[in-house]
Amino acid sequence: MKQNVYDNHEFFKGYSELRKNNKGFNQYLDEPAIDSLLPNLENLNILDMGCGFGFFSTKAIKKGAKSYIGIDISEKMISEAKLLENEKVQFINCPVEDYKYPDEMFNVVVSSVCFHYVKDIKFIFQQIAKSLKKSGIFIFSVEHPVCTALLKGWYTEKTKEHWPIDNYFQESKRYQNWFVENVVKYHRTIETYANSLIDGGFNIEKILEPCPSKETLEKRKDLIDHTRRPPILIMKGRKKC
Ligand SMILES: C[S@@+](CC[C@H](N)C(=O)[O-])C[C@H]1O[C@@H](n2cnc3c(N)ncnc32)[C@H](O)[C@@H]1O
Repeated sequence: MKQNVYDNHEFFKGYSELRKNNKGFNQYLDEPAIDSLLPNLENLNILDMGCGFGFFSTKAIKKGAKSYIGIDISEKMISEAKLLENEKVQFINCPVEDYKYPDEMFNVVVSSVCFHYVKDIKFIFQQIAKSLKKSGIFIFSVEHPVCTALLKGWYTEKTKEHWPIDNYFQESKRYQNWFVENVVKYHRTIETYANSLIDGGFNIEKILEPCPSKETLEKRKDLIDHTRRPPILIMKGRKKC
């Protein structure tokens, strides 16, 4: 069964507070890294998977995109995103597993920190390839496998001694207490992410593991832990001709 934890009242409250006040890693790590991989968006059709509040729609349209569709499993996220709808921007409340991927419609598919909530990415990546135009681009970020392997957080005695990794090769569900108990995430290896892209019909163009810069740390000291182990894994693929 698909998890829809973002519609849990307590989770939504906690996550909204974090995301809307830029207290997480999105603003300084995830978004700039994804931006650095984007092509010129002028006149392009964009699909955003697990779009959340739909913040990327504003950026895409500002950068000249012709159309933007955001899809998300959470009714609460989508109902807020819908406030951003206009003639170029549309939001659909739908799990990425059930979306009816149109043939060769999009130039760019983006997904920001969503696929670690999804059980079968191989099928989804094939669907994405099908829905992309020739040489279309697919960029996604996920919680880094170094983090999802154990999901226990830092090993702490007096200070945060180290980040423990275990069962790296065991690709399965993990449970994490994050705002609520037992949030389900799917751990898979870097190899699986990369090969799912290749097998799905993409050439891999770039892999990023963003780390906070000195300048970022001057503004956000709390991101220091992310210099010790990578929080996010980002890949960019281009549909094979
Ligand atoms: C960490 S949030 C990121 C939201 C947005 N991409 C951003 O960067 O602000 C993850 C999002 O993925 C959505 N999500 C999780 N599982 C999903 C699924 N199976 N299908 C569609 N969306 C899903 C959640 O509802 C949530 O909005």
